[in-house]
This record gives sequence, structure tokens and C-alpha cells, in this order.
Amino acid sequence: MLKTYSCGELTRDHVGEKVTLAGWVHRRRDHGGLVFIDLRDREGLVQVVFNPELSKEGHEVAIKLRHEYVVKVVGEVAKRPPGTENPKLATGEVEVIARGVEILNPSKTPPFYINEDVEVDENLRLRYRYLDLRRPRMRENIILRHRVIKFMRDFLDAKGFIEIETPILIKSTPEGARDYLVPSRIHPGRFYALPQSPQQMKQLLMVAGFEKYFQIARCFRDEDLRADRQPEFTQLDLEMSFVEEEDILSLMEELFTALVENVKPTMRVIKPFPRLSYHDTMERYGSDKPDLRFGVEIRDLSEIAAQSDFTVFRSALHEGGKVKGICAPGCAHYSRGQLDELTEFVQGHGAKGLVTLPLGEAQARSVAAKFLTSEQIDEMAMRFEAREGDLLLIVAGKPKAVEESLGALRLEVARRLKLADPNLLAFCFILDYPLLEWSEEEGRWEPMHHPFTAPKDEDIPLLDTAPERVCAKHYDLVCNGCELSSGSIRIHTRQLQEKIFRLLGYGDEEVNQRFGHLLEAFEYGAPPHGGIAPGIDRVVMLLAREETIREVIPFPKNQSAMDVMFDAPSEVSEEQLKELHLKLRID
Ligand code: AMO
Repeated sequence: MLKTYSCGELTRDHVGEKVTLAGWVHRRRDHGGLVFIDLRDREGLVQVVFNPELSKEGHEVAIKLRHEYVVKVVGEVAKRPPGTENPKLATGEVEVIARGVEILNPSKTPPFYINEDVEVDENLRLRYRYLDLRRPRMRENIILRHRVIKFMRDFLDAKGFIEIETPILIKSTPEGARDYLVPSRIHPGRFYALPQSPQQMKQLLMVAGFEKYFQIARCFRDEDLRADRQPEFTQLDLEMSFVEEEDILSLMEELFTALVENVKPTMRVIKPFPRLSYHDTMERYGSDKPDLRFGVEIRDLSEIAAQSDFTVFRSALHEGGKVKGICAPGCAHYSRGQLDELTEFVQGHGAKGLVTLPLGEAQARSVAAKFLTSEQIDEMAMRFEAREGDLLLIVAGKPKAVEESLGALRLEVARRLKLADPNLLAFCFILDYPLLEWSEEEGRWEPMHHPFTAPKDEDIPLLDTAPERVCAKHYDLVCNGCELSSGSIRIHTRQLQEKIFRLLGYGDEEVNQRFGHLLEAFEYGAPPHGGIAPGIDRVVMLLAREETIREVIPFPKNQSAMDVMFDAPSEVSEEQLKELHLKLRID
């Protein structure tokens, strides 16, 4: 090694030792005679002092050093003079008195500060990602990612899981997004699809008898990007044979609790993880990925509203709608302007309008209060256990619009009031999902997740009579309003799988062509099996308390699915197209 120690590991114990360090110039200060540099490597920073009286040559080189030069320093560790210690730095009690320095490689001036945590345009950061990753916050995130993955591997290994790789060049395996396609050179006109997940492969590994499989799996989905979505992302994909839902849920609870304790002990987890049915979570939180760090639950006020003379309520109910609301604690004083903002907010989420009802003195200003008796207002307040000074926010309309807009408003109120404890990880399981949902667009049933999910045993007869009432053996793991994982017990017989495909409107030929291999495998002694696949990017994002998964992925795509460093996707040569037997037609 070019160095005997890492910059960040020097302490009082090393005082008097001769050391060789190598790293990047993080900061440089020229104090007339003395030159100070903060030398940085992966482990941290240490102050190096160049004194012309001790090394004239070293000092002359030091004068030339600039940010991000790569240097090798030889010197001696010394205690810092009293009063100059830096308690914010791990190495803040010591400094290295330089005897010599060699420039290993100079650096151009970086396009943004690496030594300050300032806001930088994201595309610029991504264009120079190798510099962005030098910044301490990003370095910590990537190291955290390593720890998370290492922990998961060790945990599952200790539980008897086998890590098995599955191919990237395969055939479409549906997870509800578009496929990325790869043209075949050897088979003109044919394409591989990159896996949206290793779903079918892991099921086939169960048929193959591995019983407990996992993989840190890269998945590819051509879908619209969001803060928590990338075109390629990583799952902890796992599958087990001879299990029931409970086995997977308790495994996940144990894994995530131990993960947080080990890699992020400053964060808290609430145990046991609450379990909510899909129906309940939609009713109470207006979302199937509820943020349980705070209450502000949605309550149904339809019964009380039906007694009132308020036409907004009555007409919504008359049309088969609902009247529901939330309580914003201590917000009765909100100004007209603030209430208008909230109204616009819910309108942006599908509600027609927002009825605002402050409790206490401010009630006099409320239009809605004029249409309600004081008993009705009291009764509504009681539904929320609300107090004077609280603000009731009520939406009337179609059930779906009411649920969704209040679900979003709940998050907005919590954001404004800073109700979410940033050190809390509120995990929960969502259960009892419907197996299917009706697609108005396609005019047919679609799987709520993927077509391999098993229906609950007792609901199987309903497949023929009332498919909308069939519940799935499906579970989601949610944390702080983010969907972390989806999983299910799978179908493992040909007969039932075929029945589901038929219900989804697939013709025999399509089934054979797309899923013949799986159906065939089910005829050779497929064991009952199930699994789950936590999204690793999202897990690390929550642990790092970041807002997007791009902050925890070394080389992510930008918001328009581009790699701006490599400039991908990019055009290809006529020659390459020819080899692939392709002609471009850009519509
Ligand atoms: P699902 O499609 O729900 O299930 O994906 C599982 C988890 O993967 C993560 N995820 C994503 N992360 C980043 N960017 C994306 N575009 C993206 N899409 C999904 C989420 C999600 O919860 N094969 C099934 C799992 C199973 O049934 O075992 C599957 O892939 O965290």
C-alpha cells in the first residue's frame, strides 16, 4: 500500500508515530508561513501541517496543492496545540506534521464543491457522479447500502437460504410494467426480455427442490419514473417451499428488526409490526401504503352528514358517495389563505372541494358550521376525539376520490405539522388484498399484483361466481408510507394457474406460448411455495433518511431515464443494427 494508515483512523494513540498517508486534498489554508491541508480518504479527514522550517521542499509543493489533488504525505503524528483541537472531527485531537509530500495526480477544479454540503443541480451531480460520490453524504449512503446487503446475505445464510443467480436475458415475466427488450443477433426477429423480477425463475427453483432461495436481484421495468422508482433496481428476492403466509411475515419482521438494530441503531422500530387488512388501511389512511408514524386517521362522517341540511353532504350521499374527514390538530387558527391552499391540494387529488370546520372560537368564521347544528358538530368532533383549537377537514364525494384525496391530505397535514418522527421506522404488513381488479381501460380482470398469486383457499369457489370478492394470499410490507415489499403464497398446480390465466382473458395459445414452461413444471411435483421481494433501494433510502432512491444508488438514471454520464440511451451504428437484422423506423 502507498499508505501506512487511513486519514480517518489517526488518534491520540498514534502521537509520535511516523506515518505515510495518501488521499485527496479536501481543504487548504495558507496561513502565511504554515500551510494546512485537510487530507481525505474513505475513512475520513486529518489535518496536515506544512512548516517551511521543517521541510522547505514539502512546503513548496504544499503551496501548489489545490482541491482534489491526489497526494502522498510522509510525516509524524502530533497532538494539536491546546485550543486548536476540533471536536467535530474524529481525528480532531491530532495533526500530521509533514516531512514531505508527493503529488500523485493533480485535479482540475471540480464543477461543484465536494467539501461542502451545498445544493447542486442533480444533472450536474449525475454527469460527474464519480465526484459526487466523493462527498461525505453520498459516501455514507453507499457504505450503508453495502452494510444492508451484507447483513441480508448473512442473515439468510444463517437461516439456511441458498443464494442462486438467475438469468438477465430471458423471456417477459409480467409484473405490470413494460419490458426492456434485447434483440437477438443469432435469431433474426427475436428478442429477449430483461426480467421485471426473477418471479418465475424463483418458482422454478422451488420446483427444483432448493426449498429456500434468495438473490440480490437486479430488475428492469420500463415504467414512469418517480422518487422511489428507477428503470433498473435491486430486490432482495426470496422464495421458500412448504410455507404459509405467517412464515414469510415472521421472517420479514425478524430480518428488518435485526437489520435496523445492526446497521442503524439510532433509528427506532415499533414491534410487533402492525397488520392491517387492505380494506382497513384504505378506510383509515386512504392508501395501501400508510405512514403509521402519526395518527390523523380518516373517519367516516356519512351518518352524521346524512342528518344535516348541508347540500354538499346530502347530494354526495344521495349519489351513493361518502362524507369523510380528518382532524388537523391545533390548526383551527388557519387563515383563509391556508385553508384555500388545502382546498386546492385536495382538488389536485381528485376531490371536488374541502369543507373546513375549525373547533372553538374560530368556528364563527366557518361557512359549513352554518349548515350544521351544534350537536352535529359535537358528534363529528367526537369521532376524532378532537378538541377546541383543532380543525376538521371534510371531503364529500365518490368513495374512491374521498379516500384518495383524504389520504394525500393526511400526509400533507403531517408534513406541515412535522408530525412524523424522522428517527422512527413504522413498519406494517398489509394483508387480505383482492386477487383481481377490474380494468375499465382493458375491459377485463387484471391481477392486483402478478398472475402467480394464490387465492385464499376458501375463496376459490368465488372465482367462478364473484371474482371481485376473491382475496389473495398476498402481503405487502410497508414502512413510513413507502411500499417496501410485495409477496405472496403462489399457485402451484397447473389446474388453478390455468384457471387464473383464463380469468385474466389469456387465450390457450398465449398461455402456452408465454407460460407453457411454468405450467409444465407444475406437473412434475411442484411443492407449495411462497416468497417476497423487498426493494433494496427503498430500504436503504429509508435508513439513510433520503427522499429519493437516486441518492442511494451509485449510478442511477436521471428523471428522464437517462444516464447523463455515459449519455445512455444512445444511438447505435448502422453496422450494429444490421448485425441485429434491424431497421430503424422512428415514429
Ligand atoms: P413488486 O413488483 O411489488 O413484486 O416489487 C417488489 C418491490 O420492489 C421494489 N420496486 C422498485 N424499486 C425501485 N424502482 C422500481 N421501479 C421498483 N418496482 C418495484 C419495491 C417493491 O415493493 N416478484 C414480485 C415479488 C414477489 O411476489 O415475491 C415483485 O417483483 O420495493
